[in-house]
Amino acid sequence: MFPFFSYKTFFFLLLSFPVFPARTFPDPLTELTVDVRNSTWHDFGKFLDAGKGSEVTGMSELKKYFQRFGYLRPTPEMNFTDFFDENFESAVTIYQKNLGLPVTGKLDSDTMTQIVSPRCGVSDTTHSLHVTRHYAYFYGEPRWVGSSPMTLTYAFSPEDMINYVALPELKTVFQRSFSRWSSVIPVNFTEAKNYSSADIKIGFYRGDHGDGEPFDGVLGVLAHAFSPENGRFHFDAAETWAVDFKTQRSKVAVDLESVATHEIGHVLGLAHSSVKEAVMYPSLSPRTKKVDLKIDDVQGVQALYGSNPNFKYSSLLESDISSSWGLPLERRSSKWGTSLVIGVLILSLCL
Ligand SMILES: *[C@@H]1O[C@H](CO)[C@@H](O)[C@H](O)[C@H]1NC(C)=O
Ligand SMILES: *[C@@H]1O[C@H](CO)[C@@H](O)[C@H](O)[C@H]1NC(C)=O
Ligand SMILES: *[C@@H]1O[C@H](CO)[C@@H](O)[C@H](O)[C@H]1NC(C)=O
Ligand SMILES: *[C@@H]1O[C@H](CO)[C@@H](O)[C@H](O)[C@H]1NC(C)=O
Repeated sequence: MFPFFSYKTFFFLLLSFPVFPARTFPDPLTELTVDVRNSTWHDFGKFLDAGKGSEVTGMSELKKYFQRFGYLRPTPEMNFTDFFDENFESAVTIYQKNLGLPVTGKLDSDTMTQIVSPRCGVSDTTHSLHVTRHYAYFYGEPRWVGSSPMTLTYAFSPEDMINYVALPELKTVFQRSFSRWSSVIPVNFTEAKNYSSADIKIGFYRGDHGDGEPFDGVLGVLAHAFSPENGRFHFDAAETWAVDFKTQRSKVAVDLESVATHEIGHVLGLAHSSVKEAVMYPSLSPRTKKVDLKIDDVQGVQALYGSNPNFKYSSLLESDISSSWGLPLERRSSKWGTSLVIGVLILSLCL
C-alpha cells in the first residue's frame, strides 16, 4: 500500500534503565550480575504501586520509556514531571492491555516486572489500528508481493560479518530461522551468492552504518530489520552473539537464532504480538532461546501469505493449546488514536 516507505524495527536488549541502556552500562560485562532482574529491580522498586496522584522522583524518566514505546504523546518542548497524572494513567492502562497484563492503571509488580525485562524496541502502539487477533502488522500491512509459492533470496554481506562464529554454523542458524517461517507459509527462502541482488541482505555493523539508524554498542539496540519489501536485516556487531550458551559464557550473550527468528517476522511484515509466548512478543530475556513459532505467530503470518499446503495445525496445537486462544479481541486504540499512530510513523519511517 505504501511502497515508498518501510518501517524499521528494532530488537532491544534492555538490562538497566530502558531509555538509555547503553549509556548507563558503559561496561556491562563487569557491572551486571547473574541475577539481572534483581539488580535492576532495586532501581525501580520506588515506583512500585504508584498510581494516579502519586509523585515519585524519577517518574519523569519512566515516562520517557512510555513515550519511547508510543504510549505517551511526544512532547518535545515540554518536560515530563514526576507527577502521576491522568495522561500517565491512561498510558499505563494501554500498556497493560497491550501486553496482556492485569489492567490496574497502576505501576503494580506485574507491570514493573514487564518494564524492566528486555524488549524489542519497535513501538507497541503501531498495533492500534490494525489489530486482528493478538498479532499485528505495520501500518498499511506491507508484505512481499509475488506469485505463490514465492521464493525470497537472502545473502550475507561479503564484508560485514562476525568472525567468532564459524560461517557454516552461522548459516545453519539462519537456515533454521528461515525454515520455521517457510514451514507455515508458501514462501521459500534460499541463500543467494550475489549479495547485491538478494531480496534479504544480512550483515553485522558497528555504529553508524549508513542507514540513518546507528547502532549503539554493547546492549541497547541489538538488531534492526526493515519491513517489506526492503529486506535490509542488520545486527549490531558490538553484541556478543551466541549460537550455543554452553560455549558462549558471557552474561550478556544474546541468542542469535532467537533474534533472527523474531526479526524475520518483521522482515515478513509482522509487528509485535501481545501473546507472551509468541516469537513476536516484544521482550526476550538475556541468555534465553525463544525460537518456536506459536499459533499467534502462525496465524499472523498466514493471514498475510496464506498457509503452506504441508502445514498442519495439529502439530502446533499440542504444544501451544493454552497460549493463544480464548482472549477477547482487543481494539488497542487510545483516545488520541490516529495522531499517535502518525507520531509513531514519523519516528519509525525510513525511506
Ligand atoms: C533479590 O535480592 C534480594 C535482596 O538482595 C534477595 O533477598 C532475593 O532473594 C533476590 N531475589 C532473587 C530472585 O534472587
Ligand atoms: C526542559 O529541560 C531542559 C533540560 O533540563 C531545560 O533546559 C528546558 O528549559 C526545560 N524546558 C521546559 C519547558 O521546562
Ligand atoms: C520450495 O522449494 C522446494 C525445492 O526448492 C520446492 O520443492 C517447493 O515446492 C518449494 N515450496 C514452495 C512453497 O515454494
Ligand atoms: C550481482 O547482481 C547485480 C545486481 O543485480 C549485478 O549487477 C551483478 O552483475 C551481479 N554479479 C554477479 C557476479 O552475478
